[in-house]
Amino acid sequence: MTAKLIDGTALSKTLRADVATRAAALTARGHQPGLAVVLVGDNPASEVYVRNKVKACEDNGLFSSYDRYPATMTEADLLARIDALNRDPKIHGILVQLPLPKHIDSHKVIEAIAPEKDVDGFHVANAGALMTGKPLFRPCTPYGVMKMFEAYGIELKGANAVVIGRSNIVGKPMALLLLEANATVTICHSKTRNIAAFTRDADVVVVATGLRNTLTADMVKPGATVIDVGMNRDENGKLCGDVDFANVKEVAGHITPVPGGVGPMTITMLLVNTIEAAERAASNA
Ligand code: GUN
Repeated sequence: MTAKLIDGTALSKTLRADVATRAAALTARGHQPGLAVVLVGDNPASEVYVRNKVKACEDNGLFSSYDRYPATMTEADLLARIDALNRDPKIHGILVQLPLPKHIDSHKVIEAIAPEKDVDGFHVANAGALMTGKPLFRPCTPYGVMKMFEAYGIELKGANAVVIGRSNIVGKPMALLLLEANATVTICHSKTRNIAAFTRDADVVVVATGLRNTLTADMVKPGATVIDVGMNRDENGKLCGDVDFANVKEVAGHITPVPGGVGPMTITMLLVNTIEAAERAASNA
């Protein structure tokens, strides 16, 4: 059996067309949606992600500002910049790319972002709102994965879902969104004794560990849906995910490729969250 591919590029294109329509409508009313992207330091992967985010704004009619700061920037200066962006009426979403240099406390930085501009959904107010079932912003990567399930008709109600990885960015919010969709959710992580024992019984597996070959074919139930959040390079420098794609696709029912799976969806949902922030701001104006 060969799994059906879940095409994040194609789905993104459809969703971004709707973003562009909503951005144009807001702009026509004098409320062009605006995203501020802040990068501190010179992590090459972060630079690529951030450039793609800024380009996606330009391509879909959103205003964007891009602040690049050296790794030596002080925490106080970063907090002052966030304060200015919180007050800037042209800016509806603020994204501070993570990870930050070690001398900066990322919790403090995230908590400094106004919750109504926190389009990543990382602020404790937004994490708490998600946990209690009233999300203001859903974190972009798990939100994008939920859109994939919806677009491909993957039934989540009563499904056994396993999330491998427990980060604040992906694993934890992913588990909450699956729970909200009535799946039975298990979170596995680096200290889980036998991950395969959980994944073999799973209808849906989301892998977000940052480690190649975290999920191999022997760990997958035939027909299961496999979502690969990973973005790694193999020994030849080729992009690959956390899933042994070549072998798992022979067992799974649906699978996301890397690249062209979750990656474009993360950026798309950032645009969606920014549009929603701008629409809320415009309705309060
Ligand atoms: N670093 C890796 N993923 C993300 C993300 O979704 N948002 C931010 N701000 N930083 C990240």
